[in-house]
Amino acid sequence: MTLNAVQADIYLHHLEIKSNDPDKLAEFYSNVMDMNLKRVSNQKFLCEGPNRKIIIKKGKNKTLGYAGMICKNEENLERYKKFLIQNECEINNFESEFYKSGSFSLHDPDDNMICFGVLNNENSFCTKSIHAPLQHLTFASKDVEKFQTFYEKKLGFQVTDRVIKSSGELATCFTTSNHEHHTIACFKSSKKGVDHHSYEAGEWNNIKLWCDHFAKNNIKLMWGPGRHGPGNNLFVFIEDIDGNWIEISAELETVHGRLVKDWPQEEKTLNLWGKAIMRS
Ligand SMILES: [Fe+2]
Repeated sequence: MTLNAVQADIYLHHLEIKSNDPDKLAEFYSNVMDMNLKRVSNQKFLCEGPNRKIIIKKGKNKTLGYAGMICKNEENLERYKKFLIQNECEINNFESEFYKSGSFSLHDPDDNMICFGVLNNENSFCTKSIHAPLQHLTFASKDVEKFQTFYEKKLGFQVTDRVIKSSGELATCFTTSNHEHHTIACFKSSKKGVDHHSYEAGEWNNIKLWCDHFAKNNIKLMWGPGRHGPGNNLFVFIEDIDGNWIEISAELETVHGRLVKDWPQEEKTLNLWGKAIMRS
């Protein structure tokens, strides 16, 4: 029997981000996101903290290499793969040091690469740090309707919330592959790519610790603190040296099969507490 993404219980585990200057960007993540730094080659670096991993590779600034999703066991992965094949998804084999054999990749309508696999025995070399597992990835797209159709119908993600423009057009779509409010979301934009990636610090006090840590590193908040309507999570945002947006979140809603909620596209939806970055 096949499993959809939520039934297979799939999580975001790591991201590969490209940069013109991977050495410098890796140093940023190491210092500012409190990660250990491992030089894989001159072109590739691995930044690793507890439950957060970012691969930084030479390439065009602010582009995603791929999003690495994990499935908790091989049986679930196999049954999820059958679900994707049944839905006529084009699947490619994908090998990575993080995955056991059997991992695979696919591309969404905007050509973002998403990989799925079962975690290899984790060889973690990181030390104590402020809690913040990598949790979600948010895309920017010219066509959020297409995003919703693909992630919901083809990949079997669950749509949790949507933000609708006064014209009726879809501004944002939140989808999940487990019990967390969203693992992959998408904002309507004039460009396509990544909008931001997010780490879930769990509780408010950890956001305070992160902000103090950012201050020590001379990093100013670019947005927040605030609370999003959809997901009801507390947030702060910073920007890395390439201009990638990084979110530290807490209290993200957990969802167990509730109905989709539609929100109006207004400042308060994006930030219940104050100013919003509207995107479009
Ligand atoms: Fe977010």
